[in-house]
Amino acid sequence: MRTYACAVSEPDTGAELQAFRRAAHALVDGVADHLAALPSRPVWQPLPDAVRERLLDLPLPERAATLDDLVATALRDVLPHAMGNGHPAFFGWVNPPPSAAGIAASLAAAAMNPSVVAGDHADVHVERTVVRWLAELVGFPHAPGGGLLTSGGSAATIVCLAGARGRALAAVGHDVRRDGLAGAPRLVAYVPAEAHSCVRRALELLGLGSGSMREVPLDAGRLDAVALRASIAADRAGGAVPALLVGSAGTVNTGAIDPLDALADVAIAEGLWFHVDGAYGGFGVLDPAIADRFRGMERADSLALDPHKWLGVPVDAGCALVQRGDDLRDAFSLIPPYLRQDTGAPIGTFAEYGPEQTRPFRALKTWATIAARGRAGLAAQVARASRLARELAALIEGEPELELAAPPETSIVAFRARPVSCPRARLDDLNHALPEAVQARGRAFVTGTVFDGRETLRACILHPDTGSEHLATLVSEVVATARELARA
Ligand SMILES: Cc1ncc(COP(=O)(O)O)c(C=O)c1O
Repeated sequence: MRTYACAVSEPDTGAELQAFRRAAHALVDGVADHLAALPSRPVWQPLPDAVRERLLDLPLPERAATLDDLVATALRDVLPHAMGNGHPAFFGWVNPPPSAAGIAASLAAAAMNPSVVAGDHADVHVERTVVRWLAELVGFPHAPGGGLLTSGGSAATIVCLAGARGRALAAVGHDVRRDGLAGAPRLVAYVPAEAHSCVRRALELLGLGSGSMREVPLDAGRLDAVALRASIAADRAGGAVPALLVGSAGTVNTGAIDPLDALADVAIAEGLWFHVDGAYGGFGVLDPAIADRFRGMERADSLALDPHKWLGVPVDAGCALVQRGDDLRDAFSLIPPYLRQDTGAPIGTFAEYGPEQTRPFRALKTWATIAARGRAGLAAQVARASRLARELAALIEGEPELELAAPPETSIVAFRARPVSCPRARLDDLNHALPEAVQARGRAFVTGTVFDGRETLRACILHPDTGSEHLATLVSEVVATARELARA
């Protein structure tokens, strides 16, 4: 029998693991201290120049650092300088704090480090369950293969619209996977003006072009179905192929819910793929006070959700749900021999339903976040946020130097400042400058947008610890800052 010399030295796993255990304990303690201190610190502050420079100019290390050193550096130079969304007075964009369960689960998922594609390992089964849970949470029909986790709402939208594109072109005998778009008829997408930019980006990436978009005629949240159907008929008469209709279950600017039921009716009557963007607001359906407004979402061909928004799953965690998993499989499945994996089930591997081959274990933190609160706990959290949004709207209406831009439907409140000392002609400039000026003061964080053609502030309430006191702080900070800007 031949023997082979082995050049690899025995790893000192005992010492390595001991070092890991010590450093990880210190990290957990440091993270817990950081979380505990957040509410008493400024919401956000610019980095001190020295820290920014230290981070930017880090030289590539030649020699190994100890884990203890890495933990100390991360706790000193990184954690204290976050974007602010851990603070209950953070109202910016659509960024909640991470759930504690999700933070803990992230460590376990990293320790496993699987590629979640197929096979009889726990991560694959947990993702299947989590996708089903997400569908159940929002009342979307689900069969195995009817969705997958993605990096976020934008990626989920690309996945869903790839399904829509493939189905529409297959119906006219065009094989887009083989032939690309060369020789294909022009597809048309009907998209509300307030839809998130990720829809346009998906259409651009999929080769449909932003020129394929027609605006859905909505007036104060009501669909003019006659006008929409006339526009569809005109496109058909012109030789184009109406393919896609989009609705938002919570717009990013004002949190408005499009008339999903009426949109679903048109999509079904016209044979269009109906896609609902529920990335921000889809989980709003858990609030019994507004659940009715989401009727029709369950009839969508596809639904984009973002557990990393309202649910507070640590980034990244998006989800694409579809009625027919085969629409995604037809769009994405590609199995070269070196990737064959016999799943033993009629549904394919996760890699056959989306663009990622190596896939991270997003499901564990999502599973943990949902399980740590339960459906009832999440529903209470969602309902509370929308209640707070109504409370904030009432505060704004009671403040003569502010005005509501739109009544809140979910947990986003869009509003403007109008300090008495500011001439009307300067109000747009003032509201444009206002969010950053408020952010710089460090007591509340709000961001801006353009709504109805005017500069507007939007406050998005997602933090489970946000309370009336934080709403009051936001209002007084915005009013005080607006007065300062008006004086300047
Ligand atoms: C309504 C809506 N759709 C889609 C997205 C995009 O999601 P993501 O940032 O996870 O890609 C967002 C993000 O804020 C959103 O609010």
